[in-house]
Amino acid sequence: MVQLDLPSHHFEPRLYGVGAWTSHLHFAYDLVAVMKPALLVELGVDRGESYFAFCQAALENKSGTRCFGIDTWRGDEHAGGYDETTFAQVSEHNRDNYESFSTLLRSSFDSALTHFEKESIDVLHLDGLHTETAVRHDIESWLPKLRPGGILLLHDVGVRSKGFGVWKVWAELQQQSRSWTFADGPGLGVWQKPPSAPLPGFLEELLAPPNESNAALARYYTEHATAMQEKIAQQWRDGSIRNTPFAQQTIIQVFHSSDGSHREENSVYARIGHEGWKDVRIELPPNARAAPLRIDFVSALTTIEIESIRVRAPDRDYFSATTKPDLDSIQLRGDAERLPDAKLFRFKITGIDPQLYLPSIETELHEPVFVEMRLRVSAPA
Ligand SMILES: C[S@@+](CC[C@H](N)C(=O)[O-])C[C@H]1O[C@@H](n2cnc3c(N)ncnc32)[C@H](O)[C@@H]1O
Repeated sequence: MVQLDLPSHHFEPRLYGVGAWTSHLHFAYDLVAVMKPALLVELGVDRGESYFAFCQAALENKSGTRCFGIDTWRGDEHAGGYDETTFAQVSEHNRDNYESFSTLLRSSFDSALTHFEKESIDVLHLDGLHTETAVRHDIESWLPKLRPGGILLLHDVGVRSKGFGVWKVWAELQQQSRSWTFADGPGLGVWQKPPSAPLPGFLEELLAPPNESNAALARYYTEHATAMQEKIAQQWRDGSIRNTPFAQQTIIQVFHSSDGSHREENSVYARIGHEGWKDVRIELPPNARAAPLRIDFVSALTTIEIESIRVRAPDRDYFSATTKPDLDSIQLRGDAERLPDAKLFRFKITGIDPQLYLPSIETELHEPVFVEMRLRVSAPA
């Protein structure tokens, strides 16, 4: 491992693996520990992977930072929809650990603007909806709140599929001031609002023109990102994933297909907590086909009981399984094992890739089409 004298050297994130930020947690920690920002604002908190890394750094390094995390906690077309579990869990984690200096604002980004003075924010992290239009709007409305010489973080600058347009806005920002792009995971842009005032410690080296120091920093963070991924993979192998924050929710991902192939960009998802029975409704995008639909569960070795699955438009059912024989027509493949049950479709998840295949629907679907499910997820005893 690259040995650099950075605060994150001994960092053990309390929360990791629950979002797309795992690769950048060590950088987030060092940024706060070294820069000691007076005011940090995050737009797009979701389960708090990035936000609580900033908070943990502020607490452990006594940086004196005031943190604000802003989100509607309703999800969006890229993050997927999620239920009230997320806000409840994030609020509890904040209350238990960081309440004295961290505030969660449940609001749209636009409505939260009035909470902050012009040029008052030292670090602004933008991680909301990732379309070009949304990112442009958020940058235009929030950059005036960042102080000159302050740091903007832009997540997902490396993603060029799924309708993401952050990379286009990032290319323009890079022309306007000094910056650094981390290529790990979906990519993170680090940008200093002009003028280029000197930054403390490693940040000055990072934002300098490419040199040996910033190359070594990039290697340091890549190695920590790889180590985090290996840790998570090991937790799946030995079953201890069940005891991590990741295990508190389940992602249901519906792959729609016109030719039997299933690609990430042709999928929609929803996330649920594990308290009791849930009614989930996932809308398929326009022109989706169900030839066939595949439903994956990203869930930490849980048991799932399904009472019903329907694929329906307002005026018709394309597929409906509400009785045991209908539910038995659903194929189970990959990392899952069917369990006996007189009424329900019950199965145990044994790894990272369990899949359900619904019977193929050959007709055109007339929009809007929803996949509706009533189900319960339980952690094994
Ligand atoms: C990509 S997720 C954030 C991920 C998070 N930073 C993490 O570390 O996992 C985007 C979040 O932004 C929120 N969001 C998107 N647009 C928003 C808006 N205009 N106002 C408030 N919240 C918004 C969504 O509810 C979603 O939770």
